[in-house]
Amino acid sequence: ARVAVFISGSGSNMAALLYASRQPGAAYEIVLVASNEPHAGGLAIAEAEGVPTFSLSHKGMKRAEHDAAMEKAAKDAGADYIALAGYMRILDEGFVNRWAGRMLNIHPSLLPKYKGLDTHKRALEAGDTVAGASVHVVTPELDDGEILGQAEVAVIPNDTPATLAGRVLIAEHQLYGRVLQSYVSRPFRADWLLKRVRKLAL
Ligand code: GRF
Repeated sequence: ARVAVFISGSGSNMAALLYASRQPGAAYEIVLVASNEPHAGGLAIAEAEGVPTFSLSHKGMKRAEHDAAMEKAAKDAGADYIALAGYMRILDEGFVNRWAGRMLNIHPSLLPKYKGLDTHKRALEAGDTVAGASVHVVTPELDDGEILGQAEVAVIPNDTPATLAGRVLIAEHQLYGRVLQSYVSRPFRADWLLKRVRKLAL
């Protein structure tokens, strides 16, 4: 499968997906790394690794216009799937629906707990003894789609949001590649069928 990864930041999850994609038996390749932040650290990693990149700042643009440019980049790269990895923008509903079942996200909490921002701070404030990360299918509702996999991380004494985030990130790197690998390899591909049916209907 051909995967476009959308990032806004350091891109460590993107890098984990990329390196996993180069291991024997990998079922996907990263065909594009795209960002709304032209200075995102992950773009430099992708460039050095020879992965095509696209970046376009969203500043001063309408959401729909920016989304359309990102979507075009993914399509032009021939992506079958989009993996959001620290992409800090909410995508418009039309975009999400066109990629229904073909767009995944990683979120640093054990969903359905702590959708949105500041997940680690919220977990610590709640006194949780276990935190973690989830990979889910992207639907128009934020952090709400079907959960495909989770990784648990124990909270330790004196954890701060930053120390906890650091360990959860390590778990994210293991989780995302494994889940993406099994998702693109699943035997019944409803998304694939839908795509074909849509093509016939046009
Ligand atoms: C990760 O914790 C991800 O779950 C969250 O943003 C962070 C991105 O980190 N949504 P990176 O850019 O993959 O290093």
